[in-house]
Amino acid sequence: MLKRLSKYPICESKQVPMKFEKRILCIGAGYVGGPTMAVIAAKCPRYGVTVVDVARGRIDAWNSGKPPIYEPGLDDVVRSALGRNLFFSTDIARGIRENDIIFVSVNTPTKTFGAGAGMAADLQYWELVARQILEHAESSKIVIEKSTLPVKTAQAMERILMSRNDGVHFDVLSNPEFLAEGTAIRDLLCPDRVLIGSRETERGLKAREELVEIYANWVPRERIVTSNIWSSELSKLASNFFLAQRISTINAISAICEKTGADVSEVARIVGMDSRIGGKFLNASVGFGGSCFKKDILNLVYLCRVEGLEEVADYLERVVRINEYQKERFVLNMLRAMFNTLAGKKICLFGFAFKADTGDTRQSPAIDVARRLLEEHAEVVVTDPQALANAREDLAGVEKGLSFVEDPYEAVRGCHAIAVMTEWTLYRGLDYRKILDLMVKPAFIFDGRNILDHKALFELGFNVYPIGKRPLSHF
Ligand code: UDX
Ligand code: ADP
Repeated sequence: MLKRLSKYPICESKQVPMKFEKRILCIGAGYVGGPTMAVIAAKCPRYGVTVVDVARGRIDAWNSGKPPIYEPGLDDVVRSALGRNLFFSTDIARGIRENDIIFVSVNTPTKTFGAGAGMAADLQYWELVARQILEHAESSKIVIEKSTLPVKTAQAMERILMSRNDGVHFDVLSNPEFLAEGTAIRDLLCPDRVLIGSRETERGLKAREELVEIYANWVPRERIVTSNIWSSELSKLASNFFLAQRISTINAISAICEKTGADVSEVARIVGMDSRIGGKFLNASVGFGGSCFKKDILNLVYLCRVEGLEEVADYLERVVRINEYQKERFVLNMLRAMFNTLAGKKICLFGFAFKADTGDTRQSPAIDVARRLLEEHAEVVVTDPQALANAREDLAGVEKGLSFVEDPYEAVRGCHAIAVMTEWTLYRGLDYRKILDLMVKPAFIFDGRNILDHKALFELGFNVYPIGKRPLSHF
């Protein structure tokens, strides 16, 4: 969920004028809804696009032209359409009344209570939206699931929406978003595929075609894939499983590399040259983060357990377990390398975002690593070019031994070790001679992303511990 609330002045946009060819609403102005609607508005000036959210601060930020999330290229896209055919508002009821095509892009976190706690998706926000649509709609609508949801959610949505018998009809489509944070605008402008699932009835197919028409404004037709609605819901979860599975697999291999003297980058390159496997998503790391992978896999695991597919559930769940193991292994490697005690040692985390080019820290491996280091009584200094505000919230309540410093050179002052958590380009170009001078000796670098020049750092005097490679140590 978006955490930072902005203090931008309130300047609610006017509602959408009637002149537009299609009138589109998106409920939820977060990491998915905001950028996706901005791109639709930028690419389709003939359509009016309104984005609504309960969070006033977020809406004000979008309206100010300075979005509440950091995403390369987003500001320009928003500014190109803001006030022309892109509007942000908190008036959800009016939005529902005045628009015909409604995307739902609210958060679906993992449930923290009751049946399925820690696994199933918490659908309360989602159901609330369905009921709001039901209450406020005065004409028929196409309702589109944009948030990632459990398979069969469309059915629940349909059942809620069908409870009206006054001729107002709702067609529910599934149109999962495949954008990755940090590259959202590029992914939206030039997607590998756009997926649209619908009921295969006459009405369902007509609604599907209406959505195809929107994307066809800039996406080549052959990349717009249509399917039945359950395949669409499942394909999104399955895609995220496949991606996460590759990372857990290469991370498992990285553990073997560390025991055998093999080099995980070489192994990944060689494996990836097989055209059946391909080279992407094979970067060993301290672990994957982000709001989707863990949540979506656990969602599938829950579905399998409910359906009695225990073997499948165990298989899928292993991908999450290896990810937890990788973070713990990273901390234990630090402990072992630094003479089996971290107590009183100062460790600087380079990066806190779950990946580069975003300020998002949801499920970031840095959260677990920071907490574990604090448990070992280390002092933790966090630095990150975009994510410090979120990092502060993630570690709220920790009073002792934690600080946040924006400038990396200031952050490393008096530190015993650096642990690279996020692959920001910035960290590749720092003056490591200057950094070494500022640190306590012997100085250690644990490269959780394998982005630094390990040999050069070793030659400068650092003890370097990459992931899945032989450490370069002066002892
Ligand atoms: C993911 C999917 O890629 C996207 O299609 C879906 O819509 C949402 O979930 P996102 O979580 O934004 O996107 O980022 P992604 O690039 O997939 O990275 C996820 C995590 O995996 C990050 O922590 C990243 O650092 C890590 N990662 C990625 C690796 O550790 N190694 C890799 O090789 C690739
Ligand atoms: P995602 O990464 O899926 O986009 P976010 O948490 O960034 O998720 O965004 C979801 C947005 O949905 C939040 O800004 C939240 O305030 C909004 N939201 C949740 N419930 C509702 C609701 N009932 N009506 C309108 N907006 C909602």
